[in-house]
Amino acid sequence: MTNRTFAIIKPDAVKNNNSGKIIDHILNSGYEILSARLTRMTLAQAEGFYAVHVGRPFFEELTRFMSSGSCWVLVLGKDNAVEEWRKTIGATNPVDADEGTIRKLYATSLSENAVHGSDSDKNAAIEIGFFFSDAELIACQ
Ligand code: CMP
Repeated sequence: MTNRTFAIIKPDAVKNNNSGKIIDHILNSGYEILSARLTRMTLAQAEGFYAVHVGRPFFEELTRFMSSGSCWVLVLGKDNAVEEWRKTIGATNPVDADEGTIRKLYATSLSENAVHGSDSDKNAAIEIGFFFSDAELIACQ
């Protein structure tokens, strides 16, 4: 069964001209891109998206960084998409990420870690709904 997950190509990866390489990596790893958009989050949007991290010591740095430049928001389809995408991107901190994962290849630090991935099917649905309407999931129609 094809499932969905939500991904972000973060501002560091966009600034470092790694968007194309990461999109190639996504397609070569067997994901279907169901929708994608280049956007720049406002600080309020970043605070809303990462509301689950309110009160954590890195919250301000995270939301400032995520609103500091353009990012790609994407909906990806694949069997077990959430789990598969987390394997494809690697550990949150690139020093812990396995060889060949997107974060090992393109992330520079824990804060500037190139990509985001949902951590559960429930959160994937919430995160997809934060940026996309059902009508925008064009490959699903
Ligand atoms: P992401 O998968 O987007 O989810 C939350 C982000 O917070 C995470 O990637 C990291 O980029 C960032 N972050 C910064 N510091 C920490 C930390 N100490 N622990 C976890 N996440 C952190």
